[in-house]
Amino acid sequence: MASTRAATDRRTHIVGWGMAVPERVVNNHDLCTMVDTSDEWIRQRTGIVERHIAGEGETTFSLALRAAQAALEVANLDPAQLDLVVVATVTPDYAFPATACLLQDALGAEGAAAFDLSAGCSGFVYGLSVVADLIAAGGYEHGLVIGAETLSRITDWTDRNTCVLFGDGAGAVVLQANGAPGGILASVLGADGSGKDLLIQPAGGSALPASIETVQARQHTVQMDGRQVFRFATRIMPDASRRVLAQAGLSVQDVSLVIPHQANDRILQAAARNLGIEEERMYSNLSRYGNTSSASIPMALCEAIDQGLVKRDDVILLTGFGAGLTWAATVLRWSLPLPVPVPSRQMAFWRSLRYRWAQLRSRWRRWWRWADAHLFQILYDEEGRRKRRKHE
Ligand code: ACO
Repeated sequence: MASTRAATDRRTHIVGWGMAVPERVVNNHDLCTMVDTSDEWIRQRTGIVERHIAGEGETTFSLALRAAQAALEVANLDPAQLDLVVVATVTPDYAFPATACLLQDALGAEGAAAFDLSAGCSGFVYGLSVVADLIAAGGYEHGLVIGAETLSRITDWTDRNTCVLFGDGAGAVVLQANGAPGGILASVLGADGSGKDLLIQPAGGSALPASIETVQARQHTVQMDGRQVFRFATRIMPDASRRVLAQAGLSVQDVSLVIPHQANDRILQAAARNLGIEEERMYSNLSRYGNTSSASIPMALCEAIDQGLVKRDDVILLTGFGAGLTWAATVLRWSLPLPVPVPSRQMAFWRSLRYRWAQLRSRWRRWWRWADAHLFQILYDEEGRRKRRKHE
């Protein structure tokens, strides 16, 4: 699937961004105490040195919330103005309800529709493309797209083939409609479900519901054919990148910075070679975070912006691949002057009050739902008819 935003004056721009990672850091030496591996092997074969791992009480939702609040702060946007909240994740807090709904409630995004999106590590770019198109089509003004994961919760910590790769984190962007030039220019999304077994969490769904056997066989954890995924990634990332650039009428030379899915430094090097782009133009923070699946691209984007690597009018290419198999690429022209002004302490205070208020409102609604149900039992019979009083 492909989309190009050229025919209309209404464009979608990134106006806010934010990221969050757990405090706890696990380095390669720590992993050597858990599985038969070495710091040297992990560095050489993947480029990863350390990763952040969620602590007790930390979830995909809590990381997504921190990233979303940071992004709304940059955008200087009241959450009540959001029309859409989309969380791309393969590690939602629950199979249902959607993590996006938890977020909508916690932010106090009263007017927003909310849903999760599952497209493996391509999830964030899928979400960005879908929301950008919905906004540009005219139905919505503001969208929040988040890639958030706690892969550590579905990692088999006895499997050295996978446990050295993953980390936890979240990245968010706020999207806004306006007529300024630039913004999201084009997207390419794709899938090949014949590769479903290459990267899969086999149990827990309708195909293999949770049972003692599935738990004992560790089928609730990530299973991966690393070599095959590697081959797929080195082919598909340059391919999707070229196609999206062609759709936007741009060439590789026009690209200031590539923000690829952070899976393996060797994949990034191969993609850079294949695209004919210098490695310096291929952003990598893999060494510090590992592979955070759908969170990796928005986290890398946030860091690139904060490091001054993104300037007004720069062409930025986001490209990823993942479970499904899926792939996605988006090209955008950065339109916001940088750096953005730091919000005043007063603004920060009001914003924190607003989140507190959202929390209270949520509690009140839950209480009222409980009270309403009990009141209903007192006043009405099972068929919903009003009970008669004794004297009636
Ligand atoms: N430490 C030491 N040795 C190891 C480790 C480890 N952690 N892991 C594997 N090995 C061994 C293997 O057992 C094998 O030994 P053998 O030759 O005796 O059998 C040897 O190292 C080579 O194994 P390969 O699998 O060929 O190693 P490779 O160089 O391909 O690297 C890796 C493996 C890092 C997994 C690579 O294939 C890769 O990065 N693949 C892509 C992964 C990816 O991008 N996944 C996306 C997930 S995103 C999502 O949707 C969640």
